[in-house]
Amino acid sequence: MAVERTLTILKPDCVRKNLIGTVTAQIQEAGFSIKALKLTRLTKETAGGFYAVHKERPFFGELVEFMSSGPCVPMILEKENAIEDFRALIGATNPAEAEEGTIRAQFADSVGENIVHGSDSVENGKIEGAYFFAESEVVANNS
Ligand code: CMP
Repeated sequence: MAVERTLTILKPDCVRKNLIGTVTAQIQEAGFSIKALKLTRLTKETAGGFYAVHKERPFFGELVEFMSSGPCVPMILEKENAIEDFRALIGATNPAEAEEGTIRAQFADSVGENIVHGSDSVENGKIEGAYFFAESEVVANNS
């Protein structure tokens, strides 16, 4: 299996619930290596830019409001099969449909406030990673 990278965001609800440490521990225990990490706050403009593919969706306004409502923690994660394995770890977008034990099933309140984002492909992972991090902010190895 190929080593891949994914971009996650611990969303404003995760930060507000004081779950940064708990969720990050579960991510690391699942074998993901953190290559970049920061605490930041999106504006409506930068949140809208990140989710531009959803611009025409009825929930876009709500999504932008929520994602700019407080600090969030983007991270670039690396692991074999990272895209698929991370999506399995976090569970379905709607926490009501997420498998028991997944991060969203444990901690998320709704489809809009669902604790964490994960890239849906290697290509999008690269684009999304570059949205938050300059190359100089991504470590080459963690040892
Ligand atoms: P995420 O994986 O970050 O990618 C797009 C986000 O849009 C998704 O998580 C949800 O938080 C949000 N989203 C998807 N569907 C809805 C919906 N029906 N209502 C509100 N937000 C949604």
